[in-house]
Amino acid sequence: MLVKIAPDLDDAALDAVCALALEIGLAGIIATNTTVGREGLTTDAAVVEAAGAGGLSGAPLRERSLQVLRRVRAAVPEDFCVIAVGGIDTAADAAERLAAGATLVQGYTAFLYRGPFWARQITRSLARRGATRGTARA
Ligand SMILES: Cc1cc2nc3c(=O)[nH]c(=O)nc-3n(C[C@H](O)[C@H](O)[C@H](O)COP(=O)(O)O)c2cc1C
Repeated sequence: MLVKIAPDLDDAALDAVCALALEIGLAGIIATNTTVGREGLTTDAAVVEAAGAGGLSGAPLRERSLQVLRRVRAAVPEDFCVIAVGGIDTAADAAERLAAGATLVQGYTAFLYRGPFWARQITRSLARRGATRGTARA
């Protein structure tokens, strides 16, 4: 069993989740889910407001998900599974997560926008780059 965390947690809460995950023997952490934040959007604020509450995914989430991944990776042992998700769109994004210590990467929004061959494009590009966990070839 893995636990999936919100990008809206502060550092203290992230550290507490990591400690608890280790303490109770979870198999890993998935970072991150969607955000309730609305910062940094280029869409008109009234349009965003009209869309209502709910989780925001995709590009606006990218930097925060990467920050959370780095925080989580620093708080758990190297062999502890950490799945990176949130705003991953390109092979460079995926390589960046791997370089930041992700065990696996996942995409949801980009898959919807890019279509069924998206994952193949990413994996082929990663293979060409020779990107693996812990390498910094983004
Ligand atoms: C329409 C939609 C439905 C989702 N449903 C779930 C869900 O049921 N369980 C879950 O853990 N995450 C769910 N997520 C979150 C995604 O798995 C992912 O963590 C999040 O969207 C960030 O990744 P992305 O930027 O690649 O979309 C959902 C996201 C979207 C956009």
